[in-house]
Amino acid sequence: MANSSIKIVTIGGGSSYTPEFVEGLINRYDEIPVRELWLVDVEEGKEKLEIVGNLARRMVDKANLPIDIHLTFNRQEALKDADFVTTQMRVGQLDARIKDERIPLKYGMIGQETNGAGGLFKALRTIPVMLDIANEMTVLCPNAWLINFTNPAGMVTEAVLKNSPHKKVVGVCNVPINMKMTIAHLLEIPLDKLEIIFAGLNHMSYGLDVIIDGESRLDHVLTLLADPKKQPTMQNITPLPWETSFIRGLQLIPSPYHRYYYKTSTILHKQLTEFNKGITRAEVVKRLEEDLFNLYKNPDLNIKPPQLEKRGGAYYSDVACNLISSIYNDKGDIQTLNVENNGAISNLPNDTVVEVNCVVTKNGPTPLAVGSLPYTINGLVQQIKSFELVAIEAAVTGSYEQALLALCLNPLVTDDQTAKFILDDMLEAHRDYLPQFFNEK
Ligand code: G6P
Repeated sequence: MANSSIKIVTIGGGSSYTPEFVEGLINRYDEIPVRELWLVDVEEGKEKLEIVGNLARRMVDKANLPIDIHLTFNRQEALKDADFVTTQMRVGQLDARIKDERIPLKYGMIGQETNGAGGLFKALRTIPVMLDIANEMTVLCPNAWLINFTNPAGMVTEAVLKNSPHKKVVGVCNVPINMKMTIAHLLEIPLDKLEIIFAGLNHMSYGLDVIIDGESRLDHVLTLLADPKKQPTMQNITPLPWETSFIRGLQLIPSPYHRYYYKTSTILHKQLTEFNKGITRAEVVKRLEEDLFNLYKNPDLNIKPPQLEKRGGAYYSDVACNLISSIYNDKGDIQTLNVENNGAISNLPNDTVVEVNCVVTKNGPTPLAVGSLPYTINGLVQQIKSFELVAIEAAVTGSYEQALLALCLNPLVTDDQTAKFILDDMLEAHRDYLPQFFNEK
């Protein structure tokens, strides 16, 4: 890309996470010379957009960099001639997430932002909006890369690849980088000395191997992980310890999100106890956000406040900035991304999105082949992929039957009748954001 003044557009720019992205861009200005950063949001998010935008301007001023920060509700105006578009919006804002987490719990099922019924509904609300964005990009900035953080990131990315002419799309997630950071810390080595071979799906990928100086150190890492205090986790997931013999038997490194699948009843019990006291993660986050925005409002604040690291998405900007830099600078380094499989995992369809290590050049990411997934994890991964495929179909068509089938295929929803109650309740609760289910009725 022979462009010395990059234009980046961030949709969902009023997010509390944006200061981390701005910090990432400031720290890498030599590699990524951004001229314009456009923060786009919806009118309901006006106040947040202004608070975050003003903080971003103060951060850029402090760094004395010529980055123009634009704030707008006009997405098309922003997208025109963009080089990179990052998406981090939440359709329906945090109140929708509260419903995603609370309603399944009412029926005795896990309530989680990206897994189970909550994950399905986030996909149903988000995919149509993301398709609109991708279609607009085809006209307004056909050469731009769409870097999607919006959850469920794997499904949303796959929906774009399959349903939009805009093919320059990559899904990104902060879980692999967090796992890598934890393990590098455990091994007391710099991050760039460590390679973990990740494979699977978003929030469902495993560390298949750990390589240092060309040699596998998986066995050593699995031994270290016997200590629960050393096991990777995320701020948004209760760090319930893994059974050591389970991990040793598995001979792979599970992701923190695998707790929802291998510790389902413990998590459900814990969530229900908190739910009965009126607490869900979404409500905790709502309070954290209020605190963050109060900090952001301070006209003397001109850095990303450390309190932002209490959020599950911490370090997401490293993933985004590393990706942008490698494409812009044609680096050819390895990053873990959500891309079209194309044979990287031989026992998943070629046209499906997987989370794997990729080589990133100016042409974007190319996934590295890992062969077939071990049979010990293949069953679960295939089941989640079936769920994802049907969920995408439901999001695009607005089919009630497909939405119900998706729920029934999900391992966190364990009864078809209860699935129907949850579906009916959630469709009604999210009605305003699900036109595809109501338009023609
Ligand atoms: C993790 C996930 C993200 C998710 C975040 C939620 O980091 O990888 O996809 O958005 O947690 O964190 P929160 O603080 O909003 O619960």
